Amino acid sequence: MKVLLVMSAALVVTATNSELNLGLYEWASQKVLGLDSSRNSQSTSPALTVPYEELERWLVDEAEIAFESIIHNIGGHGDGLDDVLKGIVVASRSKSWPDYYYQWTRDAAITIDSLILRLDDQKGQNETLRVIIEDYIASSAQIQRVKNPSGDFKNLEGLGEPKFLVGGRPYEGPWGRPQRDGPALRSAAIINYIDSQVKHNTSTRYEDYATLFYSVIKPDLDYVALKWDQKGFDIWEELHDFHFSTHLVQLRSLVLGMSMADKLGLVEYAKRYKVEAERLRHFISSHYYDKQRGHLVQSLGSDRTGLDAAIFIGTIWSLGLREWNGTAKSDSIVFPPNEEAMIVTLEKLIQDMATRFSINQQRIQQLKEQVSEQRIGLGIGRYPEDVYDGVGISIGNPWFITTASIAQTLYLLADYLLIQQSPLYITGQTYPFYSRFGITHKQIDRGDPQYKDLTRSIIEYADSFMDVIREHSACDGKMSEQFNRYNGYMQGATQLTWSYSAFWSAARQRNITQSRFSSQ
Ligand code: NOJ
Ligand code: NOJ
Repeated sequence: MKVLLVMSAALVVTATNSELNLGLYEWASQKVLGLDSSRNSQSTSPALTVPYEELERWLVDEAEIAFESIIHNIGGHGDGLDDVLKGIVVASRSKSWPDYYYQWTRDAAITIDSLILRLDDQKGQNETLRVIIEDYIASSAQIQRVKNPSGDFKNLEGLGEPKFLVGGRPYEGPWGRPQRDGPALRSAAIINYIDSQVKHNTSTRYEDYATLFYSVIKPDLDYVALKWDQKGFDIWEELHDFHFSTHLVQLRSLVLGMSMADKLGLVEYAKRYKVEAERLRHFISSHYYDKQRGHLVQSLGSDRTGLDAAIFIGTIWSLGLREWNGTAKSDSIVFPPNEEAMIVTLEKLIQDMATRFSINQQRIQQLKEQVSEQRIGLGIGRYPEDVYDGVGISIGNPWFITTASIAQTLYLLADYLLIQQSPLYITGQTYPFYSRFGITHKQIDRGDPQYKDLTRSIIEYADSFMDVIREHSACDGKMSEQFNRYNGYMQGATQLTWSYSAFWSAARQRNITQSRFSSQ
């Protein structure tokens, strides 16, 4: 109930300035109309298990539910979280089978970054969201200083601790530690917030955040600058190695840190972050494309295939979604979604997942009469060899965050293609992917009707992945961590905060890409 009140408070703010602050709901509804008219003129059929209009309505409603559900899991803002420190993001309320009643540094930073993105979409005019974000920042300052099994604040090692009890005490049990993406994601999220505040509030200046920079941001950036060349546990908390997604988010934080230090006139810090960012960028571009396997790999020393949805998750985080305008402006991205290496990796991951999970085969059987098999969106798991079932070790399943991230990658790719002026060149490497959409030529000129049809088909393909999420989430909009590979029922931690954030972010990108499509 309280969550609903929080959200209606946010909507009251949005109602005061309708043009600037359209809620996602209204915004999306307007886009629906825009898209509908263009759909009628060239009808194609997306691979959906419900009528298109039903999917669209569901997406609009679910985006609101997901956003509220994030806030529902934040201390001081969600109901019944009396033992949770204000501003702490609980990964899930599930306390047993599995116990996810902790704050993971990674999950928290990612979901708070979604709130920052929405606040930015609302031009900084949402006091409710601002308070939640500031609570998160205050709790971060506290958590950073808690001595824990990874180390302490003084030697910086404590910053790599992956998860804390919800009251802010350390978790003392055995775990895959350290996880070096946490400090990167946290500092990047906080800098995103500051950049957005300075951009939208004329009375706010970078100097107002100097203390925050020294006390919270700089320790995390120093951790990244000093330790990116040391191994740590991956996003899935299993492998001690070097990881693509960890390195990408570390690069992103150094690039943001460099620019923030620069704005504060801290020339020496800016220089230091810049030097490390350049070394790291070079490392990423020279290590993660495996020529023999012919695709990017997530971890360097592992004997897995290396195909992993984390490659796309890491890319989405490091693109700079706040400034994304059909292209990644920032120098924090090494392989944007349109890069050949990304497309091949995406194609191979999708091909693997298609046959791995029987719900995907069932979906293909169900839809292939009505639309080409190649355009049917699927449930995507973490990586082929996964055996984590959400509680223990048996067999892996598709997840909501990974399926949403693949949809988002496709929306980003379509958005990128829509702003291009030059022709699209298809190579031997990218052909398997583009041929899904009936592309037969090596070159498609920007003015060629095939070009726009291709972007539409990619959007529809992404929609089909969103339809998978719709099909397997609960009727009331709840999302757990995974859905069973045989029967599609949800399993693993219930109401996983990160599932909501990943879905919301994909739905937001859909609106952006669709409105660009409709306006062309
Ligand atoms: C819990 C971790 O959070 C999960 O990612 C991992 O797969 C399992 N433990 C199994 O190690
Ligand atoms: C397990 C996932 O593998 C990991 O990435 C996540 O941080 C935790 N669960 C908490 O959601």
